[in-house]
Amino acid sequence: MMNYRLCIMPGDGIGPEIMKEGIKALKVIEARNDVNFELMEMPFGAGAWFEFGTCCPDETWNSCDQADAIVKGTVGLSHEESRKIPIDEQPERSALLPMRRRYDTFANFRPVYLPRAFSHFSPLKPEIIGDGIDIMIIRELVGGIYFGRKEVGTNDQGLRYAREVLEYDERLIQRTVKVAFETAMKRRRKLHNIHKSNVLKSSILWTDIIMEMAGDFPEVEVQHMLVDAAATALCLDPAQFDVMVMENMFGDILSDQAGGILGSLGLMPSACLGPEKAYYEPSHGSAPDIAGRNIANPYSMIGSFAMMLDMSFGMREEASNLWNAMESVFAGGYTTGDLSRAGDSIRIVSTEEFGDRVAEALAS
Ligand code: IPM
Ligand code: MN
Repeated sequence: MMNYRLCIMPGDGIGPEIMKEGIKALKVIEARNDVNFELMEMPFGAGAWFEFGTCCPDETWNSCDQADAIVKGTVGLSHEESRKIPIDEQPERSALLPMRRRYDTFANFRPVYLPRAFSHFSPLKPEIIGDGIDIMIIRELVGGIYFGRKEVGTNDQGLRYAREVLEYDERLIQRTVKVAFETAMKRRRKLHNIHKSNVLKSSILWTDIIMEMAGDFPEVEVQHMLVDAAATALCLDPAQFDVMVMENMFGDILSDQAGGILGSLGLMPSACLGPEKAYYEPSHGSAPDIAGRNIANPYSMIGSFAMMLDMSFGMREEASNLWNAMESVFAGGYTTGDLSRAGDSIRIVSTEEFGDRVAEALAS
């Protein structure tokens, strides 16, 4: 019997509700496999700050250190609530980015998947969606401007200024690009390098490195696309993309846009892999406006569990069963209140019932 320790951090807002549904699915998998998941539930996020005075207490760090994988819900509160926390102590700056840095989780996988079963959520026209959208965005997650040196002050003209540095060295780029090529090899063998080489020197370095490494992956077709053009292409012709690789901030922005073309960020799970540790989280925020109402769709959270099963524990088949289970619930005409629109001919169920239906489909 394999025993895996999971640090579970439900977080703020809708985090706890959707986490519960992810765990429900995990229990089904545990019951029929020779595996035991030992769950360590830990405080993390703005709620932890109000309770313990820190967004990530030491015991949470210790548990993460010991865990075989980390599963995180969502963090952050409403704009007004967040302002009660000093800027440098807010969960994004004091807990989330430090976690990424601590475990060096450089490879962020953000699947953008829209099969027919839920293409009605997308704002795109059916002729643009075609046979469906299936993209893997690979976002570099521990470098670039989010982690560069920062400085604020008053300059010699007496004007307030802020300076933040965007820096990558070739090692940081190479390791991400390698993951991207390897991912493309397992998929449709197409890789888009998303860059801004007409302005940024860092993009020229990224592009040089991709071209250098392309020789090791001759079967992968590489295309280069400016990030601003890619934003348009995602709306007009998303089917052209298979794997897209990009630096941290580009990936942050384009992955949210990808959520938009799916119809909701609630359809965006993610995996963040480092050399030794991985963590899994929805790509979206804590949605405080709908928190506690049992209406948030748990897809992004359950999908993050599916990614964990595959990427941390090699349980590929069960991961795919879990994806299929979610897809079948949507295909059966069910959804949650946050994803539906007026006039959609669908049956709206609660977060909990959606999770029940996924667990049921998974078990059958
Ligand atoms: C994401 C989020 C984070 C990011 C925030 C919460 C710091 O938007 O994971 O995309 O910018 O990376
Ligand atoms: Mn983001």
